[in-house]
Amino acid sequence: MTRRTVRIAMNGVTGRMGHRQHLVRSILALREQGGLDLGNGETLWPEPVLVGRREPALRALAERHGLTEWSTDLDAVLADGTVDVYFDAQVTPARADAIRRAVAAGKHVYTEKPTAGDLAEALDLARLATGKGIKHGVVQDKLFLPGLRKLKRLIDGGFFGEVLSVRGEFGYWVFEGDWQEAQRPSWNYRAEDGGGIVVDMFPHWEYVLHELFGRVTSVSAHVATHVPRRWDEHGKPYEATAEDAAYGVFELEGGAVAQINSSWTVRVHRDELVEFQVDGTHGSAVAGLRGCRVQHRSATPKPVWNPDIPVTESFRDQWQEIPDNADFDNGFKAQWELFLRHVVLDEPYHWDLLAGARGVQLAELGLRSAAEGRRLEVPELTG
Ligand SMILES: NC(=O)c1ccc[n+]([C@@H]2O[C@H](COP(=O)([O-])OP(=O)(O)OC[C@H]3O[C@@H](n4cnc5c(N)ncnc54)[C@H](O)[C@@H]3O)[C@@H](O)[C@H]2O)c1
Repeated sequence: MTRRTVRIAMNGVTGRMGHRQHLVRSILALREQGGLDLGNGETLWPEPVLVGRREPALRALAERHGLTEWSTDLDAVLADGTVDVYFDAQVTPARADAIRRAVAAGKHVYTEKPTAGDLAEALDLARLATGKGIKHGVVQDKLFLPGLRKLKRLIDGGFFGEVLSVRGEFGYWVFEGDWQEAQRPSWNYRAEDGGGIVVDMFPHWEYVLHELFGRVTSVSAHVATHVPRRWDEHGKPYEATAEDAAYGVFELEGGAVAQINSSWTVRVHRDELVEFQVDGTHGSAVAGLRGCRVQHRSATPKPVWNPDIPVTESFRDQWQEIPDNADFDNGFKAQWELFLRHVVLDEPYHWDLLAGARGVQLAELGLRSAAEGRRLEVPELTG
């Protein structure tokens, strides 16, 4: 085996996603397994260069993980000809400018979603990157979750017959921050800082629906800021200027209807933090992050509405668990592996900045739909 190194500038790795999912669970996990086996006698060895604004935080992070390369000077890192890839997990408003600089420097780009603050900017980034001839990718981690991969397997196997509807329920209670610390950063609740659950979650729903069931052709959303006052990381109260719940209806190419609730103000009475129920003519499934249960039409009970008597059967027990039948790695790591193979082996990869722009488009139209109180068509983006 010969070792080939890929040097990755990782910006925003002191943050929640950048640190846990991308640095620790993806890049460092790849190093722990000895690198990425490229299958051609070569092993790809990712070498992270940590980038950020705060020197002490970066140094501490590097030391904690036995890393030696870090910098607070993004331009200097981008000017380094040995750096191959720029990765961005910064707060959303800081992203577009940094990606622009990375593209100009000729780096391949991999980034968290949403790729930009509005569709025009997201499309501009996609065009710039494609024009420059660099490889680009956007995190679409939910596609790589075990539960959704099992759902995809069912779709590919024709389990559902015709898919009629998709019901998604996402969310959990995010503490206000006064008597219990909030488990999400405060910028998530300030529109002026790139916050809001629509901008956060609609990009995910776009690619999940698009890849599994069909492109979203229209959106109708209602949003709410149920908790208007929260407390930040320093215990200071602030006004929540962004919505913390969104109730969306999406029409899909092919005729199915999806309805997805997204909320940071809901208490969980579900098996998982996100669940999708899919109902088809031949069967139904409920998929979460990891699990997936099905009910075939041949096993469908015939309940009769009678509120005068207690429930006579356990509906939950009438579903069958789908086995793993495979080893499911961390979803972020699985997508990193595919992106790195795309970079070094030129393997196909379609989760690019144009795909990312579709997510930004759906968020933008979702917010407009809510503001105007009407259903909006979603024009197809082709680049
Ligand atoms: N794929 C997913 O499931 C998923 C989940 C959550 C968040 N995200 C995305 O990841 C990105 C980061 O989210 P997070 O929850 O890790 O946020 P976070 O607040 O925990 O981290 C943000 C990072 O950006 C840095 N940063 C750069 N400029 C900044 C500025 N001006 N102000 C504050 N911080 C700045 C911070 O130092 C930190 O490293 C967001 O774009 C978000 O949409 C993706």
